[in-house]
Amino acid sequence: MAPPCGGGRRWMRAVKFTLCLFFLIPMSSVGIRNTNTNFDKKQKLEVQQQLKRLNKPALKTIKSPDGDIIDCVDIKKQPAFDHPLLKNHTIQMRPSSYPEGFLFKESNNISSNSKPIITQRWHLNGSCPEGTIPIRRTKEEDLLRASSVANYGRKKYDMIPNDNPSTHEYATITEEGEGETYYGMNAEINLWNPQVQQSNEFSLAQFWMTGDNNGAIIDTIEAGMMVYFDLHGDYETRLFTYWTNDGYQSGCYNVMCPGFVQIDNRMAFGATFLPYSVYGGTQTSVNLYVFKDNVYGHWWLQVNNKYLMGYWPSSLFSFLSNSAVRVTWGGEVVNQKSGGQHTTTQMGSGHFAEEGPSRASYFQNLKVIDHEQVLRGPRDIHVTVTNPTCYNLLTHNDFFFYGGPGRSLNCP
Ligand SMILES: *[C@@H]1O[C@H](CO)[C@@H](O)[C@H](O)[C@H]1NC(C)=O
Ligand SMILES: *[C@@H]1O[C@H](CO)[C@@H](O)[C@H](O)[C@H]1NC(C)=O
Ligand SMILES: *[C@@H]1O[C@H](CO)[C@@H](O)[C@H](O)[C@H]1NC(C)=O
Repeated sequence: MAPPCGGGRRWMRAVKFTLCLFFLIPMSSVGIRNTNTNFDKKQKLEVQQQLKRLNKPALKTIKSPDGDIIDCVDIKKQPAFDHPLLKNHTIQMRPSSYPEGFLFKESNNISSNSKPIITQRWHLNGSCPEGTIPIRRTKEEDLLRASSVANYGRKKYDMIPNDNPSTHEYATITEEGEGETYYGMNAEINLWNPQVQQSNEFSLAQFWMTGDNNGAIIDTIEAGMMVYFDLHGDYETRLFTYWTNDGYQSGCYNVMCPGFVQIDNRMAFGATFLPYSVYGGTQTSVNLYVFKDNVYGHWWLQVNNKYLMGYWPSSLFSFLSNSAVRVTWGGEVVNQKSGGQHTTTQMGSGHFAEEGPSRASYFQNLKVIDHEQVLRGPRDIHVTVTNPTCYNLLTHNDFFFYGGPGRSLNCP
């Protein structure tokens, strides 16, 4: 989740120690079996309180075939407005301006043969009325799976790469121009369902925009597609965003903490899309575009050239309230090295970049909005591939292929 390059940061050892202690408590005493007493009661209360914070009252509820429950929540009562900085916030229903080239044409030749319509799976079973936004409901079992109820939807300390660099593997490209600043970025991300070996590993495809203080990452805005059992309770590929304003100590995925202001009533964060791409067959993709409103400074997110999801208010950030200094696109997996071996968790399609169109996963239509407010392709990029015998990347200016199978003879 954190970008593969950029500054390191020291973490609060005391907090980490407490979390580790939490991990050591046997699951049976945390779980449903009600052996004992005060701890269980406290935990139950904490779970109920957290569920209440996360799940706002629904005006309508939709059951998706993938098991999700989608709550249509009054747009004015969404979680964002629990944030102390957003108490008096006036919702923007549109950006005050669109950057030039706002709507991207269907691009390139990678997936040119008649594209299937891509949609979220819960759409099979209903839609949210005007004036509401769809929010994927957090269930009790989601919280019980988390290492700490209070931290559900936030980054676990052992998931922060700078703390434990060797568990995170990357295949990414980065642009970080001397003195350059960024006001937006775009990618069309090929949609696959990579296999993930175990619940505490993930496989994702995303982009990062980061704001730094002398190389130390402070603010990020991130968006992409991920498979992550511990967060979602299954191995489907789901739309996600992430933001932090203090180097991954606060902030969260999607709308799991107050921050992101959603306006769209058709797309839900954390939801699944269908259909996935087929090896050697039809390819599907999700286009994600983040850009800064040049009047209010909010960072808008648009999905599939059509759905303006909403925005991260400028006031959440210190460095990104101006601009980003680095943009990164690519794949990341967590390798827990279970049994001392490399994970079999796949990246992308589970095939190496050399396999090319309809076999290797791609990012295409890579764009940035630069300091002159010009939408352009990436320039002077550098490639980061941390373990090329397991996952790799081949770049061709405004698109690249990336991925790999994880464990193999060459990746033991
Ligand atoms: C919200 O408005 C109230 C009343 O005008 C004011 O006292 C408070 O400081 C404002 N809060 C923020 C975060 O702007
Ligand atoms: C797209 O087409 C160009 C020119 O026809 C070709 O050079 C390039 O390899 C193609 N890209 C892919 C990903 O097929
Ligand atoms: C959702 O809709 C599909 C297609 O109409 C239907 O087959 C399915 O039973 C519905 N699922 C739920 C949970 O309502």
